[in-house]
Amino acid sequence: MPRKKIIIDCDPGIDDAIALAALIGCPDVELVAVTVTHGNVSLERTTQNALDWLSFLGSKAPVFAGCAKPLSRSTIAAADIHGEHGIGGVTLPIAPQVPAAETAAEALVRYANEQPGTITLLATGPLTNVAMALQLESSVLSKFEQVVVMGGSTTEGNTTPAAEFNIFADPHAAQIVFASGAKLTMIGLNATHQVIATPDRVASIRALPTYVSEPLARMMEFYKIAYNRKYDWDGAAIHDLCTAAFALHPAAFKVEPMHVAVDLNEGAEFGRTICSPATSGRALSVVTEVDSRRVFDFLESALLSAPQWRISADAQRT
Ligand code: BDR
Ligand code: CA
Repeated sequence: MPRKKIIIDCDPGIDDAIALAALIGCPDVELVAVTVTHGNVSLERTTQNALDWLSFLGSKAPVFAGCAKPLSRSTIAAADIHGEHGIGGVTLPIAPQVPAAETAAEALVRYANEQPGTITLLATGPLTNVAMALQLESSVLSKFEQVVVMGGSTTEGNTTPAAEFNIFADPHAAQIVFASGAKLTMIGLNATHQVIATPDRVASIRALPTYVSEPLARMMEFYKIAYNRKYDWDGAAIHDLCTAAFALHPAAFKVEPMHVAVDLNEGAEFGRTICSPATSGRALSVVTEVDSRRVFDFLESALLSAPQWRISADAQRT
């Protein structure tokens, strides 16, 4: 079977980094490119994190830097959750690679036109780059096989009571993307809050005989601090991993057709994804349930599938 071609537009970001590891390790995926946006930390930092993490994982996928700012609101970040450098205090060697010459939006348009109908686009950060790609070419998203967005919520937010971080960080971009008419799946907090890296799951990842396991376990433990503080949970929600798992194992997710609009009125509701059941017309597929065991099994199996990441049990103990 041919490998699934994937581009991920991301803002690493702990859970973005976890999604990247799953995509790179998974033998059924060809990671075509990584486009990077502002988000959890500055664009400069998310781009360097993507380069360093890919280099650490031995991936040669090109990295394209995108927008440093949202379309119209002021810039926000989440360093209080992901750490000053964005990947939970894990330090990586500086990559020899630099970003490719094109912007993220230009690269998205080019890949979509070069290989129409064959690439899945995952979006795990604010949707600024994707909206910019739509501004370059209004039909660009219809040229992807599917578009899977981590963002929004059918219920409450996490950055404000109403809004989820990726949408709140650029609500205008999100509205453009959701209204584009593309075949789009939204995986919001109502779903990703079902995917918790409990201490058992972190221990199980740490015990895998790969050199990638320890930094991933440390990132998850760092991420948990914020979830413990905010929700009193004993683990973090690994939101962005869900997009990769959805692309490879859609049967682990239940979706419902919904109309989704973003509240753009500046006030308490700013950035809320207003979701209503769709009975007719063009709708988004909104994830309502996730089999979290299958999501973590997907991650573990991806980690074990990459022979270049294997270490001996002795090396793991030192
Ligand atoms: C989303 O916001 C970011 O902080 C995470 O990386 C994830 O994409 C969750 O609300
Ligand atoms: Ca993210």
